[in-house]
Formats: sequence, structure tokens, C-alpha cells
Amino acid sequence: MKNKPIGVFDSGLGGLTAVKELIKILPNESIVYFGDTGRVPYGTRSEETIIKYTKQDIAFFREFSVKAIICACGTASSVGLPNVGKTDVPVIGVVEPTAKNAVSATKNKKIGIIGTEGTVSSGAYAKAIKNIDPSVSTFSKACTLFVPFVENGYLDHEATRIIAKEYLKPLKDEGVDTLILGCTHYPLLKKVIGDIMGEEVTLIDAGKSAADYVKELLIEKDMLSTNPVAEKRFFTSDTGTKFIKTAELFLNEKIDSIQKVDIEQVRL
Ligand code: DGL
Repeated sequence: MKNKPIGVFDSGLGGLTAVKELIKILPNESIVYFGDTGRVPYGTRSEETIIKYTKQDIAFFREFSVKAIICACGTASSVGLPNVGKTDVPVIGVVEPTAKNAVSATKNKKIGIIGTEGTVSSGAYAKAIKNIDPSVSTFSKACTLFVPFVENGYLDHEATRIIAKEYLKPLKDEGVDTLILGCTHYPLLKKVIGDIMGEEVTLIDAGKSAADYVKELLIEKDMLSTNPVAEKRFFTSDTGTKFIKTAELFLNEKIDSIQKVDIEQVRL
């Protein structure tokens, strides 16, 4: 069981922010990644659809007998996961680990939360923060255009910067000292977001927080892989070179192949 892979899924590229951290902190772990590029974005969809997609994404990993699954999508973690019921293996979402890191980081007890429409309107991060420390104030903003910017490779681009200034202004005006990047796509825009918020604001990366939490969990359960060579496999629900290009750029690794999955056909 120890040497079984870890499954990671997202609606597209964003979950690679968790993969990047996993590769860094758990180099012996094999990873199976699924990016639902054929159905991205999740963030603007109905609750019913997000729940269905989240269930299918989890079911996809059944054939790989993974030891744990990271739901590396802020929207699926906030809206889908609370409604998927019992699972065969632990499924770790991004919300709780990220909220915990943000509460530890804030000094002035003002935390900003940015995410997709679905994530922000679910209030999941704000609730998780209040559960940890009710005295913390939260300020949320949906940044709907960030995902298409990332999916199209507009990572450090003037257009991204103009929109980001607009989105982040209310959070800056509130004086938050910590900002949750509550969507796993957003760390790919860290440079732009960091420049606008200023270096005194701590950015909390949801994918990284979940990966760090999984490390703690595997250590606690004595489940760390002893594989000398970790294998990485990538699956998407649509083909296209965009995913490979951006993924290679971001992970700084060559991706040999990506397999296409018909996710609608996955049995629940
Ligand atoms: N990766 C998704 C998330 O973290 C954002 C993209 C989407 O809307 O599907 O919420």
C-alpha cells in the first residue's frame, strides 16, 4: 500500500501547484494527475454539476488503487467534497489546510480570500477560518477572469495585471495582511498578485497547503513511499498542447505523454 500512487485532480492546470509541492517535499511518491480540461471551469457552474464532477473525478482513480487523493481544486473542495459521501481512500481537500496556514500567518487578524465564484459564494474558507479562530475577519473576492488567464498561459502579462489590480483593490483597502489564493490556479499568477498586494502581505497557496498536509498525514500513518523511482502519469479529459506546454513550464519537468480520459463514462 505504501508504494501506491497519490491521486491529484483539478478542473485543469491548477492542481499542478499541489503536484509541484509534492515533487519537492515527497520525491519518492508516484503521482497520477487528472486535469478535467474538457470541462474547465468548474467555478461558474451549479452546485449540482460541481458535485457530479467531483464524484466522477474521485471515481477515476479507482483503477489506479491510489493510497490517497488530493482534491486540488478550490471549487471542488468547497462545493463538491462536502457532498460526496464516504470514499474508499482518504480524499484531502484544500480548504482546511489552507485556512489553518492563513490563521497561523495573520498578525492583524484580517485575511483576504480570493477564489472562483463557486468557492467564494460557498463561504467555505471563511467558515473554516472562523472555526479555527472566530476573532479573525475575512474579506472575499471572486476573481473569475484569473482561470482563463492561467489556462491560456497569460501568467505575467499586462492584461492580467490590469484585471488583478481591479479585483485586489478592495482587499488591499481593507488592509489584509494575509491573502488566501483559494483557487489552485492562482499561484501561477503569484508574481502579479504579489506585486499588487505588496511584500508585507503573505500569500497562502492552497495547492501547497494541501500537499504539506498530505505529507504530515502519510508520516503519521506510516504510509510514505519507499519507491526509489517515482512515476508521474498525467491524464486530461481533452487533448491539446496547451496543457503540456504550461505544465512543463510550471513544473520545470519534461512531460512525455498525456492520456485522454472520457470522464463522463467513469462509473460512479
Ligand atoms: N482550479 C479551480 C479551483 O481551484 C479553478 C478553475 C475552475 O473554475 O474550474 O477552483
